[in-house]
Parts: sequence; structure tokens; C-alpha cells
Amino acid sequence: MSAEKFEAIKIDWEVTRYEVAEVEGIPFTKKICDKWDKIWAFQAKPDDLLISTYAKAGTTWTQEIVDMIQHDGDIEKCKRASTYERHPFIEWILHERLPPGWEQAEAAPSPRTLKTHLPVQLIPPSFWEQNCKIIYVARNAKDNAVSYYHFHRMNQIMPEPGTWEEFLEKYMAGEVLWGSWYDHVKGWWKAKDNHRILYLFYEDLKENPRREIQKILQFLEKDLEKEILDKIIHHTQFEIMKDNPMANYTAFPSEIMNHKISPFMRKGAVGDWKNYFTVAQNERFNDDYKKKMAGTSLTFRMEL
Ligand code: A3P
Repeated sequence: MSAEKFEAIKIDWEVTRYEVAEVEGIPFTKKICDKWDKIWAFQAKPDDLLISTYAKAGTTWTQEIVDMIQHDGDIEKCKRASTYERHPFIEWILHERLPPGWEQAEAAPSPRTLKTHLPVQLIPPSFWEQNCKIIYVARNAKDNAVSYYHFHRMNQIMPEPGTWEEFLEKYMAGEVLWGSWYDHVKGWWKAKDNHRILYLFYEDLKENPRREIQKILQFLEKDLEKEILDKIIHHTQFEIMKDNPMANYTAFPSEIMNHKISPFMRKGAVGDWKNYFTVAQNERFNDDYKKKMAGTSLTFRMEL
């Protein structure tokens, strides 16, 4: 929602961090857990497009690319509302006085583009029944962890991150909202063999946005002129999105997201983890990573 709309509702935002509970062993906000039946019963439609990610893997970036594709590169149309409003975040409940994500989706006209961070086993079954197209974006575990840490610092409703050291331990143990990064990326990787899933990588998008956007175009069965593709590449660059109030989350209530602590559009880089991991942390992380990622064909680039 735009800042004006949020203000009009006059909500006393809880400045306390949301309580955490679990659904099938995966940590979520208690608000989500309490309404899990509603989320599980969500009715997908055959022409829904779902953008799925582990939190901080490049969701907002992908949302902007997809919106630009769907609007044939019309920047003004893509500025019609904030990212949060344009694409309902199906499992999310921000506040009891605001419609939850699934209700925003129910009110949205088709064809709908929806967002989720759910691990594959918790996706409402109607998405599989309706054979919906899904774009999954994965980001290497180390940069994802650093980004998630800073997001916990700036977003006042996320659980208290503690120190970087403490947060990293929780992340490795999967004791963070939406659960284990390892299980998330592996689960969706496996699912792509049986469903209409385009599995993309943040690092590939960063390295060659043209090539990756073309994959999205093909998946969405869209054909765009070269000039429009150039425009999309330009408009969805980190530096441009950072200054776009409809994409940088500055329209979100400032009581919740404090961009002075750490901006939502923080660095947008591959390899920033090197500025945070100590040598000892890196060794411990690598040993643990090998165990957790053994037996999968899924590989990541931690630097470009
Ligand atoms: P950093 O914290 O590493 O900067 P999500 O949208 O899934 O919450 O992910 C947010 C992360 O994606 C942040 O990472 C953010 O800066 C980065 N990001 C957003 N838009 C981007 C873009 N156009 N190019 C590269 N990274 C982008």
C-alpha cells in the first residue's frame, strides 16, 4: 500500500517484534500459524503466476521484471502502486485491520501475479491442481544470510536477530522465519522436475540480466521488441530500483521498516558476504553446507 493509504487507516503499528510459532516444524509468525487453515485452503486459478523465493533471494527484483514484462515495458503503469500492493503476498498478515495476503489475492483481477516464501511442501495444493506457472528464484546461502540479517535489523516486526554471529547460527539451523534455506532451495529444485517451475538464480540475473529476462519471457510465452527489453533491463537495475519509491519499500510504514538502520535496497551485490563472514565462520559454514547440500545436483556461485 502507498504511504498515504497506510496513513489513512491510522493503525497503531506494533513496534514489538511478531511472535513466532510453527507449521509442520517450519517457523512462521504466529499470525500466519493461527490462520494456517485459510492459507492452505487458498484457491489458485490456472492463469495465476506465482513468484516464489526464500526471503531476500531477489523477490522484489523479480516482481519488477515480471510487472514490466506484463506491461510491455510501460514504466508509468508499473508505478501504479507499490510492490506490496501490486502482487499479493499470499501467506502474509501485516495487521489484523488490513486484509491478509490471500484476501488481497481473492480481490485481485485475473490474471494474478502472486508472491510467496513458502517452502514447497507448504504451497497450497490448489497451485499444483491448477498447474500454475511458478518462477522460483534462489540466491547463494551466504549472501542470502547477510541480506536476511540486515532485513531483521531494519524490519521491526521480524524476530530480534541478535549479533551477526548469533543470527548466522540460527540461519544454519533453519531457526528463522520460513525455515531452512537449504531445505527451501533443495525442495523447489526437486519440484521443478514435475511442475511448471522456472528455477532462476540471483547470481545469473546479476551477471546477465538480458539472458535471464529472456528466459522469463519464454516461460511467460511473451515476445518483446529489443527496445522494450533494453528498457526493462535499465528500469530493473539495482541503482534505478533503489530510487524508485514504488519498488524500494519506502512507501511501507516507517514504524515497521526503518531504512535508516539498513535500507531495503541495501547493496544488491554478489559476494558481499565476504565483508561479514570471519575466516572461522566461513570454515564452519562450508563444512556444514557440504553436509546439508550433499546428494543434490543444485549448485550455487558465491561470487562472480
Ligand atoms: P541485499 O540486502 O543483499 O542488498 P527480496 O526482494 O527477496 O526481499 O530481496 C532483497 C534483496 O535483493 C536485497 O539484497 C536487495 O538489495 C536486492 N535487490 C533488490 N532489487 C535488486 C536489483 N534490481 N538488483 C540486484 N539486487 C536487488
